[in-house]
Amino acid sequence: MEVVSTIDALRARLEGERKIAFVPTMGNLHEGHLALMKLARQHASCVVASIFVNRLQFGPTEDFAQYPRTLEEDCAKLKSGKVDIAFTPDENVLYPVPQRVMVDLPPVANELCGKFRPGHFRGVATVVLKLFNIVQPQTAVFGKKDYQQLFIIREIVRELNLPIEIIGAETERDADGLALSSRNGYLSAAERLEATRLYQTLVYIKERIESGERDFGGLQERAEKTLDSHGWRVDYVAVRKSFTLEPAQPADKGLVVLGAAWLGKIRLIDNLEVFITE
Ligand code: PAF
Repeated sequence: MEVVSTIDALRARLEGERKIAFVPTMGNLHEGHLALMKLARQHASCVVASIFVNRLQFGPTEDFAQYPRTLEEDCAKLKSGKVDIAFTPDENVLYPVPQRVMVDLPPVANELCGKFRPGHFRGVATVVLKLFNIVQPQTAVFGKKDYQQLFIIREIVRELNLPIEIIGAETERDADGLALSSRNGYLSAAERLEATRLYQTLVYIKERIESGERDFGGLQERAEKTLDSHGWRVDYVAVRKSFTLEPAQPADKGLVVLGAAWLGKIRLIDNLEVFITE
C-alpha cells in the first residue's frame, strides 16, 4: 500500500487508473471501516481510502481537538485491508487558505442530526466534494450508520451531476448490537454496557411497525422516555421515509428509524431500515 499526502502526488499516482473506488474516513479505523474497504474492493481495481479529520464539520463546542488521531495504526489496518492507496493530507493540503466556498445543502441538512449540529453537513459536503474532485473515483462507499450523511451525499451526486456511484454499506455491530463507531472508544465500562439500549430501542420501534403500529409520534415519544429514564439525553428519535428522509406517513412502505442520544459526554447515533412487504 502506498501512503500519499499531497494532491499532486495522488493525481500522478492515479493517472491511468480506470476503476477507482474511494472510501473517505476520519481515521481511528475499526472493523466497520474495514468492511467499507472490502466492499470498495468488489467494485474497483484500485481502492483509495482517505484519512482526514475535517475541522469544518465540527461545531465550536465539539470534539475536533480530542478526536483520536491514530495514523500509524490506521495505515497498518488499511494495508491489511488490501487498500491500494491511503491519502493522508494535512490541513495545509486540503485547506491551504480558509475554506470560503462551501456546499449549500437542502433543508434536510438542518433536520435530525443537522438540527443539533448546525453546519455539520455543510462541512461534510464541502470536504467530500473536494475529495471527490481530487480522487475522481467511479465509486465511493459510505456506511449506512451515518444514514443522513449518506442521503445528503447521494443528493450532492444527483443534483451536481457527479459521475460517481455511491454505495451504502450495512452497519457493522458488536455482538450486543452496538453500532461500531470511533466514538465508542470514549465510553466508560458502565456506559459501554448501557450503550446497546439505543439499538434495542430502535429494534423495538422496528418490531412495533412490522406488527402494524403506525402511531409514529407515540413510538418516538415512548422511545425517548425509555432512554431518558436510563440516563440518556436524547437529541431525537424519528421515523422517516427511507428514500427522502421526510417524516413517515402511515401508508409508507420504506422507512428508517433513526436516533441520536448522549450517554454522558458521548453522542451516539444509530438507525434501522424497515421495509413493509405486505
Ligand atoms: O463519515 C465520516 O467519517 C466523515 O463525515 C467523512 C465522510 C469522512 C467526511 O469527513
